[in-house]
Amino acid sequence: MKSKNKIKIEPSLFAADFGYLADEAKRAEDAGADALHFDIMDGHFVPNLSLSTKSLEAVNRACNLFLDVHIMVYNPEVYIEKLVQAGADNITFHFEATENIEKTLAMIQQQGIEAGLAFCPDTSKSFLPQFIDKCNVILLMTVNPGFGGQAFNHDVLEKISFLREQSATLDIQVDGGIDDKTAPLCIQAGANRLVSGTYLFRENDMRSKIKQLRKSRELSV
Ligand code: DX5
Ligand code: ZN
Repeated sequence: MKSKNKIKIEPSLFAADFGYLADEAKRAEDAGADALHFDIMDGHFVPNLSLSTKSLEAVNRACNLFLDVHIMVYNPEVYIEKLVQAGADNITFHFEATENIEKTLAMIQQQGIEAGLAFCPDTSKSFLPQFIDKCNVILLMTVNPGFGGQAFNHDVLEKISFLREQSATLDIQVDGGIDDKTAPLCIQAGANRLVSGTYLFRENDMRSKIKQLRKSRELSV
């Protein structure tokens, strides 16, 4: 079931040129992005390291985009206040990363920002329904988190459809391997927020690529 929610295109800064982060954030804004996706990794929950609160502050100064912060870290609750101070408009943490899921979602929303819950591709869809009313967005990872440029996992499409059947209004976000081929499949299944790193940042003309992704609703059957 296709979503009636607005389709949002959210470039993932992880694929940007890290020598020019502020400029890259501005480039996404000028290209018509709906939000900027900002990955934080702790080297434990995922075997990689990435951006942090200092770079989030810098990016927040550089652009006016909604900052969608995806934290791939254990004990996410510890970082909420610092991330909000640094400019996060949304914090999405992983179902697999803490025992305190409901408490953490509530802590984020109490800070006056949006809360998201992310699920790795292999995590059972049976855990999804209980959180629909407790968060602003559910992120269904379409790759294993930790690295950009990976191949899209088609098995997740079924999980997207399942979640859309449970709720017509929930924001469903996908992240990993999203391009002009895979975006229509995700929209068709029911996703409405598309995070895309390599496909958008590795192109000089980001505006035309964003437009291409926006067309996914018409391209899906
Ligand atoms: C991976 C990150 C993604 C990553 C996506 O763990 O969460 O946001 O930047 O990159 P692409 O679009 O290249 O798969
Ligand atoms: Zn991400």
